[in-house]
Amino acid sequence: MDLKSQIHSLEDDIRRALSGIDTQEALERFRIDFLGKRGKLTFLVKQLGKLPKEERPEAGKAINRLKSWVEEALIQRREELKDLLHQKKLKQERVDISLPGRGVPLGREHPITLVSREITEIFVGMGFEVSEGPEVELDYYNFEALNIPKDHPARDMQDTFYVSDNVVLRTHTSPVQVRTMEKKRPPVRVITLGAVYRCDSDVTHTPMFHQVEGLLVDRGISMGDLKGILTRFVHMMFGKDIGVRFRPSFFPFTEPSAEVDIQCVICKGRGCRVCAQTGWLEILGCGMVDPTVYAFVDYDPEVYSGFAWGLGVERVAMLKYGINDLRSFFENDIRFLSQF
Ligand code: FA5
Ligand code: MG
Repeated sequence: MDLKSQIHSLEDDIRRALSGIDTQEALERFRIDFLGKRGKLTFLVKQLGKLPKEERPEAGKAINRLKSWVEEALIQRREELKDLLHQKKLKQERVDISLPGRGVPLGREHPITLVSREITEIFVGMGFEVSEGPEVELDYYNFEALNIPKDHPARDMQDTFYVSDNVVLRTHTSPVQVRTMEKKRPPVRVITLGAVYRCDSDVTHTPMFHQVEGLLVDRGISMGDLKGILTRFVHMMFGKDIGVRFRPSFFPFTEPSAEVDIQCVICKGRGCRVCAQTGWLEILGCGMVDPTVYAFVDYDPEVYSGFAWGLGVERVAMLKYGINDLRSFFENDIRFLSQF
C-alpha cells in the first residue's frame, strides 16, 4: 500500500477507535497507540524518508494534518468524557429530597426519674427542703451515729457492701439525717433522694435502689405529725382509696418505729407473688428520732423532737405503674422503658 492509502486507512481506524472510547484510561491507551513513540502515526512519519524527494512535501502535509486533527479530537473526546462521567456520578448520587426523613427516636425519662420527681414535688409542696449526701459513706454516718455500733446485731438488718473497714456504700439514706443535723439547728425540714446499696436480689429487692429520706425536727413534734404527713403523701401519690397501714417495727435510730405498708395494687390485696401473698407491700420505714442520735449532733432532746422516714422509690414506682418485678427497672429493656 502506498503512503497515501496508508494515511487514509489510518484515518478511518482512528475515527472508529475514537467513537468507541468511554473511559479516560481507554483514551490514554488510544493516544499511546497512535501518537506514542511506537504509535501508528509516528510510524508513518518515519516512512516519509523512504519516499522519493518530490512526494515528500505533500505526504508530509497530509500526515501533519492528520496528526493535528487527532490531537484535537483527543482533547475534545477527553472533555466529552469528563462531562459524561460527571453526569453519571450525579445520577448515582441523586438524592430524592421529597422522601420522608428517618426519624431520630427521642429518649424517655426513666420511670424511677419520673416517680422521684413526683415524690419530691409532693414533699416540697409541704415545705421540705432538698439536700444531698455521699453514696460512698463513712461507717460513722451510715451506722455509728445512728445508734448502730460496730458488731451490733442490728447491722445484720442490712447486708452491707464494705469499701474498707470504715467506709461503706451507704445502705440507706439515713446518714444524711446526721449530716444535716450537724450543719443545721432546728427547725429542720429536709428530704434527700438518692441511690443506696445492699447485697439483695429478688422480685422486690435489687442491690442498688433509691430511697427518699425525710427528717422533720422542731419543738413539739409528735407521732401524730408523722402519721399525718406520711398518710397525706400516700394519698397524694396513690389516691385516697388506697389501703395504708402503720405497722410497729424497729430501727436503732427511731423510737417508736413503724413501717408503712400499702395495699398491693398488683392483686388488689388478694395476695400474689409481689406481696408474698400478704396483700400488702412495705414502702417505707419511719419513727420518732431516738434521743441517742440527738446526742451525736448536740440537739437537746428535752427541747426538740422529730421524726424521720426512709421510702423505697422503686417500691412506689412498682405500685404506681403495676410492675410485678422490681428488677425490670434496671434491665434497660427499651420495650419496657418506652411505656412510661
Ligand atoms: C431503712 O432503710 C431505714 N433507714 C428507714 C428509716 C428511715 C427508718 C428513717 C426510720 C427512720 P428499710 O431497710 O426497711 O429501712 O428500707 C426502707 C425501704 O426501702 C423499704 O421499706 C423498701 O421500700 C425499700 N427497700 C429496702 N430494701 C430494698 C431493696 N433491696 N430493693 C428495693 N427497695 C428496697
Ligand atoms: Mg423494712
